[in-house]
Amino acid sequence: MNPLKHVAIIMDGNGRWGIKNKNSRNAGHKAGLKTVEKIIKQTIKNKIKFLTLFAFSTENWKRPKKEINYLFNLLENFLLNRIEELHKQNIKLKILGVKNFSPQLNKLLNYCEKKTLKNSKLQINLALNYGSKSELVGAFKKIKKNKKNISEKNISRNLQTKHMPDPDLLIRTGNTKRLSNFLLWQLAYAEIFFEKKLWPAFTPNDYDRVIREFKTIKRNFGKI
Ligand code: FPP
Repeated sequence: MNPLKHVAIIMDGNGRWGIKNKNSRNAGHKAGLKTVEKIIKQTIKNKIKFLTLFAFSTENWKRPKKEINYLFNLLENFLLNRIEELHKQNIKLKILGVKNFSPQLNKLLNYCEKKTLKNSKLQINLALNYGSKSELVGAFKKIKKNKKNISEKNISRNLQTKHMPDPDLLIRTGNTKRLSNFLLWQLAYAEIFFEKKLWPAFTPNDYDRVIREFKTIKRNFGKI
């Protein structure tokens, strides 16, 4: 059976779920957050050490301001209400992406990261204002500045995901088959599951089913 240390998720379909069920995209984001909470619990139950969630891409700034504000309010309230509990559960929170939000949100994100830095049960990477191409450009620039060789090792070491294993499994909900500029380097050997369900409708049972199937796959990493 395949070891499973790191799951990455593209949580797609909030908007469509919200329009269909509540006539509001934002209601979909609110429901999506409930799924996030259930999936965190299930990740712990499955003894997985790293969970990376794509919550906001560098391209998502093109959305209407009202939706962007709603999403960031949701995030802020989630962290304010839940950070103590996450900390008590020995969960470490790390932000991937460029933290250029409001001074208030930047401060809260830094506080949450610092508070949970030494926790070790589960690391949640929240990708916010994240774009993989820009992360790679940043890594190359750092290598050049430090006058180091361009090598796979040095590239990995200069990404925001240094100190963690690459994802073994990528799940994308929402019935769309693309990577959307998410962890392009790190997903080189990941097993990819595209799920038809929209993110708010994705359940812990669906998650367990994907994990079970993942565990039966023969992973060759280029060998035979
Ligand atoms: C993609 O669905 C989802 C997002 C851009 C936001 C993800 C946010 C959440 C799951 C809730 C908030 C999470 C936290 C951690 C606060 P979409 O809106 O692109 O859906 P669509 O394809 O149906 O339009």
